[in-house]
Amino acid sequence: MDSLDRHEPGKTENPLSRLAQVPDYVPSGLVYDYDFIFDQGLNEDPQQRFQALHAEAPPVFYSPRYGGHWVVLSKAALHDIMLNYQDFTSSNLMLPPAEVGPVLIPATFDPPQHTAYRMPLNKPFSPAGVAVHAEAIRALAIDIIDSVAPKGGCDFLLDVAEPFPPTIFFRLAGIPLDNLREFRHLAQEFMGSPQAQVRENAYRRIGEILTVTVKARMESPRDDVLSMLATQDFGGRKLEMEEILNYAVLLFIGGLDTVVNNISFTVRYLAQHQELQASLRADPSQIPAAIEEFLRLFAIATPMRTATRDMVFHGIDVRKGDQFLLLTGAVNYDPEAFSDPAEFCPHRSERHITFNQGVHRCIGANLARLELRIFYEEWLKRIPQFRLDPQNPPTFSGGFSVTVASLPLLW
Ligand code: HEM
Repeated sequence: MDSLDRHEPGKTENPLSRLAQVPDYVPSGLVYDYDFIFDQGLNEDPQQRFQALHAEAPPVFYSPRYGGHWVVLSKAALHDIMLNYQDFTSSNLMLPPAEVGPVLIPATFDPPQHTAYRMPLNKPFSPAGVAVHAEAIRALAIDIIDSVAPKGGCDFLLDVAEPFPPTIFFRLAGIPLDNLREFRHLAQEFMGSPQAQVRENAYRRIGEILTVTVKARMESPRDDVLSMLATQDFGGRKLEMEEILNYAVLLFIGGLDTVVNNISFTVRYLAQHQELQASLRADPSQIPAAIEEFLRLFAIATPMRTATRDMVFHGIDVRKGDQFLLLTGAVNYDPEAFSDPAEFCPHRSERHITFNQGVHRCIGANLARLELRIFYEEWLKRIPQFRLDPQNPPTFSGGFSVTVASLPLLW
């Protein structure tokens, strides 16, 4: 309980993060005080904090924050959880568990419902399915990059990374771009607000915005994702309007913070590693392999699972209802799985788990890879050697997504 003794009262800002009583069945050697939202190390440098966790905490440990939950750092343990949806359900993705959490299709469903929801989307999100959007994605990347190129610097997060993925989604889904700004703000409130009322209001407004386009697509379908959700067969039936909205919201949210922050952490890394930056600029054929390593180094999402029964898992007593936070950002630095985990080594034989594994493996992985590749090709072509602004270092924060809060660059 050594780490708990170091806790200073009042350090955290969120009342939900107060320390809970550790249950009797959890041995003190497995307890480590980690606040996945307000941990100070996450604000300073998330990847360094993830590496430090491996040195300081057990591979699967119990944090008494947010009502108490398990945290997974080990790739082997994550693998065993992800491939076992019977014992580890996705049905509640809130921490602490909400009585009525958001319904996110297909993420909050286990098979067989999950399979029925997911099957029809596998094809449009396959490598060939997303490839048809390459030209539009490139045009958008060029537009955004050219808007900052003559300025000699920018806040990369605000000016470049943030507008990129939501605009792609709006185009993919066939939603008019006028609503983009409001929609993005609402999606963040819906996912991030601890207040149920704020989440409910945000969700209602998201529904209003999407309903207009969904109704139009029901009457005259086009070649876009909303038309597909509105007209396809899912397990022998059409989706209800509410299901279409839930699905569309997750597709939007799923590709938002994830891509924005993976790009931002990568660009920060390139700004700090001039040789690598010059080498990728000189030979863009290295970009796809580099992307895989950047995905490993900068995983963003922190999925959750809940135990469906009492069991012994990796030698640990687990009770039904125990929640597991899968810290993918730290799992990718597991020294048992990756040699020299902090080093940039493209072409590693061990695969990263940034998109997770098992039935919920990221449906947008092919789209994300396409967006990343096109983005770096255009960015490195159009922006000369860039570096961090020594007067304004980047800032970061934790949470279900590990994020870059600001990234001033100069060139
Ligand atoms: C670098 C970018 C991305 C990362 C790191 C990422 C990460 C993840 C992870 C870890 C999961 C598994 C969640 C779980 O097991 O509970 C997931 C699922 C999902 N992602 Fe992504 N994602 C990215 C891009 C995207 C994009 C571009 C989209 C948009 C289409 C997307 C849509 C989804 C959806 C809909 C799911 C739920 C899949 C299911 O439950 O079957 N993601 N993502």
